[in-house]
Amino acid sequence: MNIDNIQAIAEDIKRMQAASPEELEQLRLKYLSKKGVIASLFGAFRDVAAEQKKEFGQKLNLLKQQAQERFDQLKEEIEAQKEKAEKQDLTRTCDSIALGTRHPLSLVKEEIINIFSRIGFTVAEGPEVEDDKHVFGMLNFAPEHPARDMQDTFFIEKEKGIQKPTDILLRTHTSSVQTRVMTTQQPPIRVLCPGRVYRNEAISARAHCFFHQVEGLYIDKNVSFADLRQALLYFAKEMFGENTKIRLRPSYFPFTEPSAEMDISCNICGGTGCGFCKQTGWVEILGCGMVDPNVLESCGIDSKVYSGFAFGMGVERIANLKYSVKDLRLFSENDVRFLEQFEAC
Ligand code: DAH
Repeated sequence: MNIDNIQAIAEDIKRMQAASPEELEQLRLKYLSKKGVIASLFGAFRDVAAEQKKEFGQKLNLLKQQAQERFDQLKEEIEAQKEKAEKQDLTRTCDSIALGTRHPLSLVKEEIINIFSRIGFTVAEGPEVEDDKHVFGMLNFAPEHPARDMQDTFFIEKEKGIQKPTDILLRTHTSSVQTRVMTTQQPPIRVLCPGRVYRNEAISARAHCFFHQVEGLYIDKNVSFADLRQALLYFAKEMFGENTKIRLRPSYFPFTEPSAEMDISCNICGGTGCGFCKQTGWVEILGCGMVDPNVLESCGIDSKVYSGFAFGMGVERIANLKYSVKDLRLFSENDVRFLEQFEAC
């Protein structure tokens, strides 16, 4: 028996493991019982050379202490485990469930629908793969209008290998749903047409080859430009706050006459001028106008009896303003770090 033996046993004791009371008892018997390793070392003490007795004795006492401490520690661990197991709620699901979040574009789209539904608008939907007639023809686009150009519009090939443009295309705006509604319903009509649209554009922070629009259409007897203005003012205040101002600038769309573009007072700086509104205090959010009588007639609505207004806005644009998102691409990248930020919305 020598001091090295004590060292090796001390190492073994440090590594002692026990997963159950039975295993712990085995360890106690092996090291700490009357017939255990440590007791036999004490038995061998008398045979140790006199000059080594002091060191040997100290080491042996230390070993006994370490063994007892490790044993107590393991005992505590086993008891804690047992207590935890007894307290466990076996009816709980094993993993916490990570809830998904609503996409910011869905949130904004739904808010637009909610606001207009409070003044009587319902939702109408139409196909994303459309024909020329519904996207352009019935909306008073001249045959040579640049929007029909292949630069803007994704045309669908009729047959594989044929490159020539056909009259089947991906809709470039949700105004196409207007024509579908007007050809199937008679006034009064008060609809919102939300949906995805496609344009053949290079993808950047400010443009994408697909985005989302909400179109609005109101047709009845005696609908005037004042009704349009009031409906849009109501929308702007509900969406961006009571202090929001609007301004209408003359513009041109083939399907409305007169046509306008609507700006709201910049909701980032409150109209005082900032980088977002290019120091003008105003930001454009939609196009609108009185439905051109030609459009009403081409859809089978008597333009001498009825008049109406229409407007169209980009959902991404509204979301940009509402949440200060500067890069459009974030909306379609599905990066959860971005999407999770809308958890509380
Ligand atoms: N369709 C237009 C676009 O995609 C938006 C628009 C402008 C819709 C004026 C309308 C309107 O209904 O009256 O840019």
